[in-house]
Amino acid sequence: MITRRGFLRFIGGSFLSVASFSAYAVGIEPMLLTHVKRYALTPPHWTAGLKLRVVALADIHACRPWMTPERIASLAEEANALKPDLIVLLGDYIAGMRLVSQRVTPPEWAGALSGLKAPLGVLSILGNHDWWADGFAQRAEVGPTIARKALEKAGITVLENDAVRLEKDGHGVWIAGLADQLALLPKKKHEPPRGLDDLDGTLAKISDAAPVILLAHEPDIFPKVPWRVSLTLSGHTHGGQVRLFGFSPIVPSQFGNRYAYGHVVENDRNLIVSGGLGFSNLPIRFGMRPEILQIDLG
Ligand SMILES: [Fe+2]
Repeated sequence: MITRRGFLRFIGGSFLSVASFSAYAVGIEPMLLTHVKRYALTPPHWTAGLKLRVVALADIHACRPWMTPERIASLAEEANALKPDLIVLLGDYIAGMRLVSQRVTPPEWAGALSGLKAPLGVLSILGNHDWWADGFAQRAEVGPTIARKALEKAGITVLENDAVRLEKDGHGVWIAGLADQLALLPKKKHEPPRGLDDLDGTLAKISDAAPVILLAHEPDIFPKVPWRVSLTLSGHTHGGQVRLFGFSPIVPSQFGNRYAYGHVVENDRNLIVSGGLGFSNLPIRFGMRPEILQIDLG
């Protein structure tokens, strides 16, 4: 039988374990353990001799106290320090969470992102939260959203069903950006959000044989992405925010864990899903540190 002292020690120990776990999952892992997740690959349809370093930031979800303009500015410096050829932003700049002490306005977070610098530029797409937070755009069912205007004012190109051709060392490369697949909130309960994505229309803008990188906030588009696209980059899932032994209990994707996190290869098509930087509903991360992606192609 357990003694009274043993019982109290057990209770005290459990309390301390819960308290230290909470401090870790709410404070230490999310705030302090940001790391650079590196990938190196030669995807299909890649041009021999084209070496491209892409750095990607996903799911910033700006808000106080978790993702302040100061923290975003320091993430931008970290991204620049990786000496990328190109920086891409994968959407969800705006926070949807209620557990915030104060909002961070679009000029504030976009101003912090304006510090991003790369020789081939900074390209971005929007996420569902960037649409959902904009009441006017929701009612009108059309942009430009406040997020888009803020990014453009900060000198960052926004791709919504659009593509741009870049050139490095005489080799072309296309960056295509899909409009958000969950952009419009349902008008009636129990209906799913509607997307504004137009994959065929986006890829129709590719006018030569140079390789294509597709930016798509939600990875759920991936089964429809043709083999012609060398690499798809996504965010949105946050890797589930809690991930243990390669499994995330909660993933905002109709495919569950299939596209929850990391490098996925299906039928010789490549997808990389970032675990992102911020939080969606709860300020908890465990087994899924905030990350900056560095992808070396070539
Ligand atoms: Fe999202």
